Amino acid sequence: MKRAIYPGSFDPVTLGHLNIIKRAAAMFDELIVCVSVNSSKSAGLFTPEERVELLRRAVRDIPGLERGRVEVDSSPGLLVDYAKAHGAKAAVKGLRAVSDFEQEVQMAVINRKLNPRLETMFLASSDKYTYLSSTVVKEMARYGADLGEFVPREIVDAVNQRMRELEGTEGKEG
Ligand code: PNS
Repeated sequence: MKRAIYPGSFDPVTLGHLNIIKRAAAMFDELIVCVSVNSSKSAGLFTPEERVELLRRAVRDIPGLERGRVEVDSSPGLLVDYAKAHGAKAAVKGLRAVSDFEQEVQMAVINRKLNPRLETMFLASSDKYTYLSSTVVKEMARYGADLGEFVPREIVDAVNQRMRELEGTEGKEG
């Protein structure tokens, strides 16, 4: 059985991520979407547990992404350790633009040094989503833009609500 991991911050999952999930799931027997820690990013909008929950909601009703074929999990540690523990042969990454390339290749090379059995595979982002990132989504939500074109519809309300809560808290400070 061929199992792959799709790691990322997913704060929150976007339609670009979902596109990669569908395409990667079609290439492997099982795909684990793994909410992982990017130490260069700050705390974020959602906790890792919440991101897992939102991802599960986003994939739940999509044909081909049933549980068993696509699992959602989280890991506080190194991708290579998680891959080893779960018998994954490949890590899948989405590449949007040249700007992603340098950092992604660096991570791929380091991960291969740490675990030569884990291959990193890059999927070119769909042209529909090359502009899209979780950061852009958060910016849109902050200004009340319609998120329907950017994140799975199952999670639109959760993103808007969390942003409103956060802004309420920020407003009370100082
Ligand atoms: O969505 P992101 O933030 O671009 O994803 C980056 C992520 C989380 C996949 C990357 O930071 C990662 O693999 N983190 C897990 C810890 C790890 O293995 N770090 C070493 C990478 S060289």
